[in-house]
Amino acid sequence: MNSNKATILVADDDDDIRLALELLLMAEGYQIIEADNAKDVMIKATHQQPDLILLDMNFSRDTTSGQEGLDILSQLKLHNIPVILMTAWGSIELAVKGLQQGANDFIEKPWNKLKLLNIIKQQLSFSRIKDEHQGYRQLLAQEDNKPWVCESASMLAIEQLIKQIAPTDANVLILGENGTGKSLLAERIHQLSSRQSSPFIAVNMAAIPESLFESELFGHQKGAFTDAKQNRVGRFQLANQGSLFFDEIGSLPLSLQPKLLRVLEAGQYEVLGSSQTQTTNVRLISATNADLNQLVAEKEFRQDLLYRLNTLVITIPPLRERLEDIQALAENFIVQFCAKYHKARLSLSQDAIDKLKRHRWPGNIRELSHTIERAVLLAVSNKISAQQLLLDIADTVSNALELQPLEQAERQLIEKAMTVTFGQVIEAAKLLDISRNALYRRLEKFGIKYES
Ligand SMILES: Nc1ncnc2c1ncn2[C@@H]1O[C@H](COP(=O)(O)OP(=O)(O)OP(=O)(O)O)[C@@H](O)[C@H]1O
Ligand SMILES: [Mg+2]
Repeated sequence: MNSNKATILVADDDDDIRLALELLLMAEGYQIIEADNAKDVMIKATHQQPDLILLDMNFSRDTTSGQEGLDILSQLKLHNIPVILMTAWGSIELAVKGLQQGANDFIEKPWNKLKLLNIIKQQLSFSRIKDEHQGYRQLLAQEDNKPWVCESASMLAIEQLIKQIAPTDANVLILGENGTGKSLLAERIHQLSSRQSSPFIAVNMAAIPESLFESELFGHQKGAFTDAKQNRVGRFQLANQGSLFFDEIGSLPLSLQPKLLRVLEAGQYEVLGSSQTQTTNVRLISATNADLNQLVAEKEFRQDLLYRLNTLVITIPPLRERLEDIQALAENFIVQFCAKYHKARLSLSQDAIDKLKRHRWPGNIRELSHTIERAVLLAVSNKISAQQLLLDIADTVSNALELQPLEQAERQLIEKAMTVTFGQVIEAAKLLDISRNALYRRLEKFGIKYES
């Protein structure tokens, strides 16, 4: 965060004060969001995640107790956003109370411009250091204890499949929309494999500039190119004996595809700047939400490379097709976020559960996780209501289902159920909530192939 690009939420019910602060802070290069009442402060703090909040203590004209400010402050602390209180001149006791309750600093109104700007700058740089520290801690934290929810028939089928294939060295290609759990599944395959005690190295292909690809994957020797000031170990070496996860594999530049193909076929490569051939033994797991077959048709992706990657293809269905997972995932996230924000245990009301199941989840599990995080932060009782989920009605499933001949819709649903269960009739029948025989009759009627 560059402190001068930081976003500041100015929370004060007085229009003139907000305007004065806006003019002062925008001139310094900050971006400003405003809120003129307590509710708006919480909503904007949650949705727009400002880097700092300037908070007035009284939001109703006839109060001067500062209690409103203190109440908001206690809720805001959960967001981990630095708060600077704005107190009326002479109300130092109130400022102290605020500091004891977690405010980071205070400024008296009317403010001295220079002093205010200094306090803001200081708080932003403190919080940047804190963020970096947290990021570092996360990096060091053992991350192999992430919960893995799988209750739906389609996820149970995937679970069964990966238990079977994880111990083999077969390359796996994971397909699925954004946020369906591709990265987590890749880690799970590694953990269930015999390589579990060796490294799992993830590389996001979309995040590497084309000119650095080779050095990233294969490493380089000092002096191999102008900026190569030191030797660098490549990902293939780091992952040796373990698993290498290529995320967003569709972004691999065409020029590098033959080199990757060679490593996959022969286990051999050269470090940039060296003529010595290295060998590597990695299990490759890749993932994408792109249509690789189409990329092949457009000559953006080599067919022979695709054949190497897709020994086994696992398609994770979107969350809207895994209704039985939704509640379990949501409850899991509630536990996680209540712990993170030190909140007492919360539960979902029945109308909230219904609403979660009717939502289309374009962002899949990641969107669900964000929705629950927000609801946990906004919860005022021990139950989360449908309203607190703040879900967009435009994204409910019923709106998405197009009108079409009933028989056509029936056929589509059956085909879908068979695809996501990998053709397991019993599981597909469960998904459709009909008997096995009823499903057999319909498979025959529509001429859909199945294994008997
Ligand atoms: N089965 C699951 N059980 C519990 N949590 C899950 C599950 N699948 C995914 N998650 C969580 O959902 C979030 C998104 O998952 P992940 O990052 O693996 O998705 P992705 O498909 O790789 O997304 P992207 O396409 O953006 O790379 C993560 O926080 C992950 O921990
Ligand atoms: Mg991912």
